[in-house]
Amino acid sequence: MTSAADGSNAPGAKIPNDYSAFWMPFTANRQYKSAPRLLVAAEGVWYTSHDGRKILDGTAGLWCVNAGHARKQIVEAVQKQVATLDFAPTFQMGHPAAFELASRLADMTPGDLNHVFYTNSGSESVDTALKIAIAYHRARGEGQRTRLIGRERGYHGVGFGGISVGGIANNRKTWGSMLPGVDHLPHTLSIKDSAYNFGQPTWGLHLAEELERIIALHDASTIAAVIIEPVAGSTGVLIPPKGYLERIRAITEKYGILLIFDEVITGFGRVGKAFAAERFGVIPDMMTVAKGITNGIIPMGAVFARNHIHDAFMNGPPGMIELFHGYTYSGHPVACAAALATLDIYRDEKLFDRAIDNEKMFGDLVHGLKGLPNIIDLRNIGMVGAIELAPRPDAPGARAFEVFLKCYEKGLLVRYTGDIIALSPPLIMENAEIGKIFDILGEAIKSVK
Ligand SMILES: Cc1ncc(COP(=O)(O)O)c(C=O)c1O
Repeated sequence: MTSAADGSNAPGAKIPNDYSAFWMPFTANRQYKSAPRLLVAAEGVWYTSHDGRKILDGTAGLWCVNAGHARKQIVEAVQKQVATLDFAPTFQMGHPAAFELASRLADMTPGDLNHVFYTNSGSESVDTALKIAIAYHRARGEGQRTRLIGRERGYHGVGFGGISVGGIANNRKTWGSMLPGVDHLPHTLSIKDSAYNFGQPTWGLHLAEELERIIALHDASTIAAVIIEPVAGSTGVLIPPKGYLERIRAITEKYGILLIFDEVITGFGRVGKAFAAERFGVIPDMMTVAKGITNGIIPMGAVFARNHIHDAFMNGPPGMIELFHGYTYSGHPVACAAALATLDIYRDEKLFDRAIDNEKMFGDLVHGLKGLPNIIDLRNIGMVGAIELAPRPDAPGARAFEVFLKCYEKGLLVRYTGDIIALSPPLIMENAEIGKIFDILGEAIKSVK
């Protein structure tokens, strides 16, 4: 029998004649197009490359395919939905799956994060949450609270809101002043003070007090919200120091400032619970998600808001639109069907428990790389690992890129950012395959000067 995963019946298996038209995102286009790497099929924890090789997915696609690829249940749910109701607007109209999914999501979230606003991506979720934060204060008569506080090395997508609160110079420097009135907390990684932590570091709690300094500078009455990733993913896996998130929550609460957790990566089991908020026992006022909500199969994102946020908007005349915001594809029927089937798999296969059960084994394998050439730090939490390499003085990022290429040659997909290799395998991955990730990665690191 021909399996889809051998790529033989994949519609995209035909090699393109021309690579020039597709302007690729976050890619060195000229370098890539000089030696393209194409994926043509996927099943379980394996991709198939265009040259017919099996590639172990060490990154759950792009931190999103938590339940593994080509899950029959999700594929069938999508096929059925697209044949039944391909599209329905959610502006002054609705369809059943959007309501059913919102209720399912609200049941999964901790505390009273009971209201769901749909988007199509993490970037849209972030910009939506920032807008809701500002609108919330205005609805309560505090319209002067417009400032937003992000964090250095934060990644919140690529919208103007997201890059403004984000803390990555390359994502910001090109776009002028972006949103006005934004400030940033310091990030919490210091390899000098605290390297090779297993899980949460003990160093760095004091950095939460920087929020007090920022509030004193601007005055709390001008600040709408603080947004942070509970675990920063895209900038190289920065794990919150013990007590840090709790302290940020206490300070924001003290001053009536909203706290937004960007859980686009940490949501849906990546850190061993449904959400990092649950893992760390800290309930934000809003949460942004995307990626794992549909197992990466169809674009979708969402913002979860606590009762008091939602209810603050429900005051005017009942015939009035309460929030002038939304996307054509908010709550798209096919995305809702994919998400509902995904949530069934997460529940039935207890994948979030699996992530926490495997945390020690996975973390031991991450830290087992200690001593290999050029490694300067190793970090882990849940099913996330980071291997930080010393940058070459003349070429920052080159070493990790070469490791990434070597891994791909040897049949493993990893993610790299700067000189950091990040691992985030699908939560269904078996121990033997997890072991293989580290065998290949170890060999790749040893082979790169
Ligand atoms: C924490 C976080 N927020 C937002 C985003 C942006 O999501 P998207 O690429 O779906 O717009 C990402 C993407 O990696 C992310 O990691």
